[in-house]
Amino acid sequence: MVLPKAELHLHIEGTLEPELAFELARRNGVELPWAGTEGLREAYRFRDLQSFLDLYYELMAVLRTERDFEDLADAYLARAAAQGVRHAEIFFDPQAHLARGVGMGTVVEGLWRALGRSPETHGVSTRLIMCFLRDESAESAMATLEAAEPYLDRITGVGLDSAEAGHPPAKFREVYEAAAGLGLRRVAHAGEEGPPAYIAEALDVLGVERIDHGLRCVEDPALVRRLVRDRVPLTLCPLSNVRLRAVDTLADHPLPAMLDAGLMCTVNSDDPAYFGGYAGDNFDAVQRVLGLSRERLRELARNSFLASFLEDDEELRAR
Ligand code: HPA
Ligand code: ZN
Repeated sequence: MVLPKAELHLHIEGTLEPELAFELARRNGVELPWAGTEGLREAYRFRDLQSFLDLYYELMAVLRTERDFEDLADAYLARAAAQGVRHAEIFFDPQAHLARGVGMGTVVEGLWRALGRSPETHGVSTRLIMCFLRDESAESAMATLEAAEPYLDRITGVGLDSAEAGHPPAKFREVYEAAAGLGLRRVAHAGEEGPPAYIAEALDVLGVERIDHGLRCVEDPALVRRLVRDRVPLTLCPLSNVRLRAVDTLADHPLPAMLDAGLMCTVNSDDPAYFGGYAGDNFDAVQRVLGLSRERLRELARNSFLASFLEDDEELRAR
């Protein structure tokens, strides 16, 4: 049986499969520099986070209309549902679209067309989390939050993503305070390529409730003790870590040791179109390569619902 699970670390723009990218390019008259879907797939050999981000932002050029965002989200939700995802907390990167002249309303309303009906069409409940690009300025993040104010009934929380090293969480203190004042939940990527100190800073300065990735906490035993004590959820993405070279091979991934240490781990897909697998594929890979027991897999699935932003009654129904 496919384990029911929640996906808590998923960039909707990272679900853009080559086939859909070329279809949208045709529909919108956008010329792509790759020779078809196979040529594009060949470009998916990443050295690090930045080499991935360069391609990720470039391919977004095909996303232009509400219908494009609707089709993108619908395609993701269908794939996720087929792999046992019952609830998805979905990141999007408004600054990457605003910079191309695609408005906040186009993005949010387009995504919402698919998300709003998803419990019926796919059996998947959803939340939207708006991410700030940490390699852009704090002022740009604040302007993005202001641009989102008419759409806050559709947005559950804020996150922080893009190039991590050299862009510490504290840069975004004010915008996270403003987001909290608007009743938004808070998460942030930390400890993917950046140092363990960024994990503590995201908790202490930004007040986040979950850490996205958090992989590098294993380098700091005192931090691990704190994360265990406070049951801070980590949204790990094993196949992403392999593709972006955070670990050498999946067999080297610290997930089993992290679970043994008592950390509240979840397993997610990050950017599945680019990293070789959706949520269920990540579960299958860690079971196969890391030898996780059935009980450990159940723990990961249970953690995913406990760490979600579902309310208690909704959570029970989703499981
Ligand atoms: N890390 C940081 N930013 C991102 C990622 C990621 O894995 N995917 C999309 N934006
Ligand atoms: Zn991510």
